[in-house]
Amino acid sequence: MGDRVFIFDTTLRDGEQAAGCSMTAAEKVQLALQLEALGVDVMEAGFAIASEGEFTAIQEIAAKVRHSAVASLSRAKREDIERSARALDRAVRPRIHTFLATSPIHREHKLRMDKERVLEETAKAVAFARSFVDEVEFSAEDASRTEPEFLVEVARVAADAGATIFNVPDTVGYAFPEEFGPLVGRVVQAIGDRATVSVHCHNDLGLAVANSLAAVAAGARQVECTVNGIGERAGNAALEEIVMALRIRRDLMGLSTGIRTPEIYRTSRMLSGFVGFDPQPNKAVVGRNAFAHESGVHQDGILKERSTYEIMKPEDVGFPDTGLVLGKHSGRNALRAKLEALGILLEGDGLVQVYRAFTDLADQRKKGVSDDEILELAQGVLVNCG
Ligand code: KIV
Ligand code: ZN
Repeated sequence: MGDRVFIFDTTLRDGEQAAGCSMTAAEKVQLALQLEALGVDVMEAGFAIASEGEFTAIQEIAAKVRHSAVASLSRAKREDIERSARALDRAVRPRIHTFLATSPIHREHKLRMDKERVLEETAKAVAFARSFVDEVEFSAEDASRTEPEFLVEVARVAADAGATIFNVPDTVGYAFPEEFGPLVGRVVQAIGDRATVSVHCHNDLGLAVANSLAAVAAGARQVECTVNGIGERAGNAALEEIVMALRIRRDLMGLSTGIRTPEIYRTSRMLSGFVGFDPQPNKAVVGRNAFAHESGVHQDGILKERSTYEIMKPEDVGFPDTGLVLGKHSGRNALRAKLEALGILLEGDGLVQVYRAFTDLADQRKKGVSDDEILELAQGVLVNCG
């Protein structure tokens, strides 16, 4: 098992199928090219059988993307798999991703299949997909609520039938890291020498990234994730959080990805523009406030040495350096630094006067004070001082 974690981006499939996240075919192609620039190992371009539009978008992406593998999702059904194979015709590295639910809840209520039948359908779907392409991924939907012994049996059957990647999804975001890690560890032990073990975590309890990292620590080497964490319901594990966690805590995990991190912010903004909404302001890595410092104590620390309150640099993820946000919690040092950045050098009495005017204004505000307003205050003081 190597120290490289493969990033499987599913923004164009699981992300796009979430409420309010639809994109046009042209937008999907543009985002696919940006995902390639970002350096994702695999991108899931869509669910080929879902619609004609979905099929042609996958076709176009498959024809344009040259470096990342391009995947198409298919239920464990011949017609789905054939449709995916056709959509991926022109891909340099086509991957058929086929899935079947394995948990007792899904077996009983959705599929009406017993365990034997699930094993049979798994083997048939994987073998059929392998008749088209070399890269076949099988997902045991709702794996985290599947009996662990049965999940391992499914994994063995999938690997025997030729699956090159076995994915363990926490489909409903139910798992806890302390149980998900060992569950994935059992699968790695059973088939890790024959197939890459992957995870795909949803964020219903806000644990998608923690579960993905626990799985990686247990030997998973592919993580499925989405830009800005978009995806069904509460979303999927956020790509930018997984990648930066592995990078910043390489000392702890000893693992790396192939992501060009300075492309992260651009990718996030492109997606926000297409879906029409931004991530929440305090979203890790890409939120508006991810690198903003307003409190006086923090600003003072940042001005002296950035690492006092920043574990990564904005430029590491391509985030424009917005500098200090000045508001009622800011101190005089931060104001001096801001004025300097705006081209005004002030010390002593002048600085005290501007600071007083600034705190009076900031006190009346819920949001910060803008650069223009600070300039106006400073100019007023300079004029009065003659
Ligand atoms: O959440 C899930 O289980 C999925 C599978 C199709 C991988 O999206
Ligand atoms: Zn999913």
